[in-house]
Amino acid sequence: MKLLEEVQVKNVSFQNRIAIAPMCPFGIEAGEDESLGEGILEYYKRRLETKPGLLITQAFKVKEDKSVLRGFGITSKRQLEDIRKLADLAHENGVKIITQLAYPSDGHHRHDTIDFWRKDELKEIEDSFVKAAYNAKEAGCDGIELHGANMFFLNLFSSPITNHRIDEFGGDVNGRLHLARNIISRIKEFADENFIIGYRMGWNQDLETDIETAKALEEAGIDLFHISYGIREADRYMPKEYPSFVSYPGTTREKQIGPEDFDYNDVVYTGSRIKEHLNIPVILVDEIWTFERGEKLLEDNAGDFIAYGRPFLADDKFIVRSKEDPSFNGCFKCKDCAWFYDLYKCPKVKQRGYE
Ligand SMILES: Cc1cc2nc3c(=O)[nH]c(=O)nc-3n(C[C@H](O)[C@H](O)[C@H](O)COP(=O)(O)O)c2cc1C
Ligand code: SF4
Repeated sequence: MKLLEEVQVKNVSFQNRIAIAPMCPFGIEAGEDESLGEGILEYYKRRLETKPGLLITQAFKVKEDKSVLRGFGITSKRQLEDIRKLADLAHENGVKIITQLAYPSDGHHRHDTIDFWRKDELKEIEDSFVKAAYNAKEAGCDGIELHGANMFFLNLFSSPITNHRIDEFGGDVNGRLHLARNIISRIKEFADENFIIGYRMGWNQDLETDIETAKALEEAGIDLFHISYGIREADRYMPKEYPSFVSYPGTTREKQIGPEDFDYNDVVYTGSRIKEHLNIPVILVDEIWTFERGEKLLEDNAGDFIAYGRPFLADDKFIVRSKEDPSFNGCFKCKDCAWFYDLYKCPKVKQRGYE
């Protein structure tokens, strides 16, 4: 099975091509000072013991002053202690760990604009990303992933839907990636061959822009590309209540651009088309659900890693069961994933009785 084959990125070797998608386990009690804490480390441990190739961590905020993401950060000594514990747990199981870094703009919850942010504020955010990447390296991680998807700050910049700036941070693709490019080039100053710079890019529903953006990111020096959902126009006006936010994974992935006979959603389709234009490896994710479906994508050379999100939440033994039966799918694909608000309402958690 290609999914179980080793792969290398820079000097970093992965024992297979299965990735745990970045996911905040909302609902498990955090530790002191908004660190991961014992509960979340235990949640990760159970999944790491099944030996995926790569763990992309939940998003960590790079700056203290924003409270989205339930506060998990990568700045304080206490927070870094637990990130180091997580890196050790990953390595004990042969798993490589990439830490996801985010600036959690308000746009994550409601339509926001990045058009009026001052340059000195942007410089501070740039510095915070660079410092956070440095912290991740010091904590023993194998790389970082800049969160440029899912309506997070860098996504608001890269997308022409949300970026209307007329200074050097807007305009064409290079302008829209100006902030990301600055961050990447500064991280490259200390990222050696053992440290991966990844980028999770949100798609735009416009394949041409997505391919152009991905190519510009590769040119800027990233080592690993990850596709995910981005800014959907409809969401710009979504109601402010929380339920509308929690419902969006898996609910609005109608086929808009992929051909009828492509048996995956548009996020995966976009990633697979981008792969044709890049020389760096590509991670595919979103409603792939089973090993069987992931394997088919790898066989078709549509991607290099397959990330699974909800399958790992629903079943901590997802890998073990899938090795026995590649068509295994333990997630009930609920319309609203309970892990966003109360994981104990997840029917699979109820069934197994622990998390
Ligand atoms: C509870 C939950 C938390 C998530 N947290 C993050 C996150 O911190 N960063 C991120 O980029 N994506 C996050 N996601 C999105 C997942 O990484 C993934 O893209 C999405 O669940 C689709 O993949 P799947 O169909 O395999 O679940 C989260 C998803 C869920 C369900
Ligand atoms: S079974 Fe439902 S609540 Fe549980 S992980 Fe899957 S979508 Fe989320």
